[in-house]
Amino acid sequence: MYACICHGVPDHEVDQCIRDGAHSEDAIGEACQAGTGCGNCRDRLADMIESYFSGDAVSAAA
Ligand code: FES
Repeated sequence: MYACICHGVPDHEVDQCIRDGAHSEDAIGEACQAGTGCGNCRDRLADMIESYFSGDAVSAAA
């Protein structure tokens, strides 16, 4: 499934960007362009960041 339709960025690519250190919507945009088009997906990107930090990857982000 696409996280960002404008740029055709799939969920797993956004997840990878977050794991690589893109911890804000703007940082994700710089890393993989997601969220830099219409902006409709930015809430979804924020949710993905939130679930990264609240999920099982917390230790990696500490
Ligand atoms: S769907 Fe991501 S910027 Fe438009």
